[in-house]
Amino acid sequence: MIITKDNKMADVIHMNYSTLSVLNRFGIELGFGDKSVEDVCQKHEVDINFFLEIINTFINEDYFPKKHLQSFSIALINDYLKKTHDYYHQVKVPAIEQLMDQMAHNCYTQRNNINLLTNFFNDYKQELLNHTQREDKIVFPYTLSIEKAFNAPQIDKKTVKLMEEYSIDIFESEHDNIEEKLFDLKNIIIKYLPQPKNFQLCNKLLDELFTLEKDLNDHARIEDKVLVPKIRAMEGVIRKKFSEK
Ligand SMILES: [Fe+2]
Ligand SMILES: [Fe+2]
Repeated sequence: MIITKDNKMADVIHMNYSTLSVLNRFGIELGFGDKSVEDVCQKHEVDINFFLEIINTFINEDYFPKKHLQSFSIALINDYLKKTHDYYHQVKVPAIEQLMDQMAHNCYTQRNNINLLTNFFNDYKQELLNHTQREDKIVFPYTLSIEKAFNAPQIDKKTVKLMEEYSIDIFESEHDNIEEKLFDLKNIIIKYLPQPKNFQLCNKLLDELFTLEKDLNDHARIEDKVLVPKIRAMEGVIRKKFSEK
């Protein structure tokens, strides 16, 4: 189902409750009664076209935004993606670490396996940090430069040089599936960690890992299907304008 501006915001959550995390990133609080998506966005000063593109990409794997050069800015997309990165590092990762700590304190018989799990997750945490930092420090600034050049009346040589050294195609080809390694981590727990006395803790940890994996997957889809095509379209226009000079 495709969400439109006329749907009730409450129905969006009933349909797919993981949209709650998206609403949080937009600063939309619960308690919107029967208000429509459009009314709630208006109240929270959220660009409706941007919201619809993000929410539909997030919930539908097969959704492809069609208009790449729409009204909303690249800064808006970057800001949303950056907030998601912060959410992983400030909320999700600490929640998983806390559960692992509890396991280490409560289960003496599985010490080796729990150490293995903790080491694996520490490596994973570093990889996730490298992934998001590269986007925050290299990719997002590049996309802002491209947008600036796209909106400028004249294309300067600096932009063309920048595009010779880097492009959104390079980002896309290097964009790894950071969520895939969580599968191995889940497997250590599922296959090798008997927890007869602590199954609730184990379930909670698995639940956190499954939701992080899904969220990372949905997040990457927004990068690949919203940000990449939009920048590619802008790069195309810039190249064309420059060659016609
Ligand atoms: Fe990202
Ligand atoms: Fe990414």
